[in-house]
Amino acid sequence: MEQQGGDARRITIHAPADFAGMREAGQLAAATLDMIAPHVRPGITTGELDRLCHDFMVAHGAVPATLGYRGYPKSSCISINHVVCHGIPGERVLAEGDILNVDVTVILNGWHGDSSRMYVAGQPSTKARLLLDVTYQALMRGVAAVKPGATLGDVGHAIQSLVERHRFSVVRDFCGHGIGRRFHEPPNVLHFGRPGEGPVLRPGMFFTIEPMVNAGRPEVKILEDGWTAVTRDRSLSAQFEHMVGVTETGCEVFTISPAGLHHPPYKT
Ligand code: MF3
Ligand code: CO
Ligand code: CO
Repeated sequence: MEQQGGDARRITIHAPADFAGMREAGQLAAATLDMIAPHVRPGITTGELDRLCHDFMVAHGAVPATLGYRGYPKSSCISINHVVCHGIPGERVLAEGDILNVDVTVILNGWHGDSSRMYVAGQPSTKARLLLDVTYQALMRGVAAVKPGATLGDVGHAIQSLVERHRFSVVRDFCGHGIGRRFHEPPNVLHFGRPGEGPVLRPGMFFTIEPMVNAGRPEVKILEDGWTAVTRDRSLSAQFEHMVGVTETGCEVFTISPAGLHHPPYKT
């Protein structure tokens, strides 16, 4: 979501029983991302990928949360190459070497399941391959920092420090978010920060971690359609997103791939 200003708002503490609903929603989002993996190849349009996602979600009893959300017209966001996020699926045909993020959110039994992964049409360049690897590792370092008593600054710092060590940059204009019965709620989950700063994590908090990493500068701009965010310097951008719930000992990742398709190349 777009980053808001201060974050003095209340963070929902969910009951232990609520984890089951989030697990189901998260697993359906992840299964949707598994389903499209073999379809992502040169020649297919992003509109066709969106249709596959839409039909899969609906066939499994869910509503695509993005469809009509603040006027957004599709059931997924598909962001290719220098598109940072919120790319609108359509007539664009995938070409050899394109890297793309597919982001889906389901509403299942009232709970939101939000996840995204990177895909490659054909073979990536060496630079793209490194960007994808670092972005995935950054997400998982963020996830590993989630436990009661830690802060969101610890999470952001874990991500930012890895990304910048590789001389890539963390996008500042979009962040992760609280989630549950609502799509976007407090807190804002920044993908940069300092250890010990920010809200303290407590069992029962549900939020996404979804770092956007640019190969060049961090600045983005929004295109005329009002949604598509691109890198200002037209450098490549990558993103992975998981949804987590804070437990007594650490966290549960609700959006782990049932098929083990965590990052490309996907062996399907
Ligand atoms: N799924 C995105 C997220 O991770 C939000 C997309 S909202 C849309 O928060 F309207 F652009 F679809
Ligand atoms: Co999200
Ligand atoms: Co998402």
